[in-house]
Amino acid sequence: MPVHLVDHPIVRDALVSLRNKHTSREQFRRAATRISVLLAAEALRDVATAATTVDTPLGPADGARIGADVVVVPVLRAGLGMLDAVIELVPHARVGHIGLQRDELTAVASRYYSKLPARLDASFVVMIDPMLATGGSAVAALDLLRRAGAGTIRIICIVAAPEGIALVERHHPDVLIYTPAVDRGLNEQKYIVPGLGDFGDRLYGTI
Ligand code: PRP
Ligand code: URA
Repeated sequence: MPVHLVDHPIVRDALVSLRNKHTSREQFRRAATRISVLLAAEALRDVATAATTVDTPLGPADGARIGADVVVVPVLRAGLGMLDAVIELVPHARVGHIGLQRDELTAVASRYYSKLPARLDASFVVMIDPMLATGGSAVAALDLLRRAGAGTIRIICIVAAPEGIALVERHHPDVLIYTPAVDRGLNEQKYIVPGLGDFGDRLYGTI
């Protein structure tokens, strides 16, 4: 399976806050940011670096800078709740946006927006979407990224269902998924169980 399970006490703690139906909107947003920082750090663990030297007040020190063109792609709208966290780690990252909306009855995703940076072939693309349920949205976004020339792509999500992982693996076997949780499955409405409910609605108060 193309899944990298991220296990860390802070990740587990934030995930409990996100799952808890009594968590306030403010706490939900903060937990989403907290968990996203750690997931992104893990997804970026093997990003290319370039050796450098800097002058400290006491003399030269060797170090390394991020050497890759990192491109972060939130899948709207829920993915925006993870964006600030990733930008905090890679402040110079380029950002592409893909707007997808699942039909409430069929759960089939349709695209309403897309704006991607140019020249993605040598970039390190990090696609962010908190929920990987049927996988329809992820595959649609990945198709778009591939058509735009993207090479290396990582997905960060907060909760994944086995169905979504399997679909991504079938269509994009070279894409690695970083998540702290693979849940039991989907209910009749194609929501992840136990999951955390509708991430976008909880993030933006549109319930
Ligand atoms: C949610 C979520 C994913 C998608 C996952 O978005 O953010 O994009 O559903 O479901 P899937 O794997 O079955 O495609 P939604 O379409 O609810 O839109 P929103 O982000 O605007 O809330
Ligand atoms: N989108 C969500 O926000 N939650 C789910 O469980 C499935 C899709």
